[in-house]
Amino acid sequence: MTFDRSLKIAPSILSADFANFGLEIQAIEDQGCDWVHVDVMDGHFVPNLTFGPPLCAAIRPHIKTVMDVHLMISPVDQYIEAYAAAGADYITAHVEAGAHTHRTMQAIRATGAKAGVALNPATPAGEVEYLLDMVDMVCVMTVNPGFGGQKFIHSQIEKVRQLRAMIGDRPIHIEIDGGVTPETAPLVVAAGADVLVAGSAVFKGGSVSNPAPYGENIRAIRAATVK
Ligand code: DX5
Ligand code: ZN
Repeated sequence: MTFDRSLKIAPSILSADFANFGLEIQAIEDQGCDWVHVDVMDGHFVPNLTFGPPLCAAIRPHIKTVMDVHLMISPVDQYIEAYAAAGADYITAHVEAGAHTHRTMQAIRATGAKAGVALNPATPAGEVEYLLDMVDMVCVMTVNPGFGGQKFIHSQIEKVRQLRAMIGDRPIHIEIDGGVTPETAPLVVAAGADVLVAGSAVFKGGSVSNPAPYGENIRAIRAATVK
């Protein structure tokens, strides 16, 4: 089977109603999202705190698509098995989270999950060069991680281009995380990205009792990327 480089929209539940995760996930999936992105923060690697493994395990049965877990935590290695056991399909760790990202990627794959490596805005593309034969996804942070609703950092588009060239024919997704909107989505897709995380741009204007805006927002991002 050929590798699927078609566009995938991954709403971040960081922008969902925290009292209603099950229904929020059902709503975004019913409204046409491709993956569900879960932002895990530790109040140390990033200045915010979010979801532990039990929360991930609790929402897992509600996800029919793909559970994409983004670990913004350091140290990271000792928590990988717990997030895998919680049902993550993809587990992404940051190259800045520790000195041994190669070992971290091995540890993720050893659980059976797909391995992603994320780069903060200040980190050059070359940091992942020697990891490309052992990862399934590279995540380019287009904001400084920690919060939803921040402004897209345009300098990262060139990084996406460089990564796309480095990846060549390898079966590796390029994911964009932060500030994705109908305005910024076409820029990163043209540069080579195929997974777009979007928090505020998907959840704005909707709710579990009024989910139609989620669908309109997802379709607006998708449509903007089609020439
Ligand atoms: C940032 C998170 C993102 C964030 C995206 O630390 O990793 O996933 O929720 O939010 P928006 O799309 O609102 O920039
Ligand atoms: Zn994220």
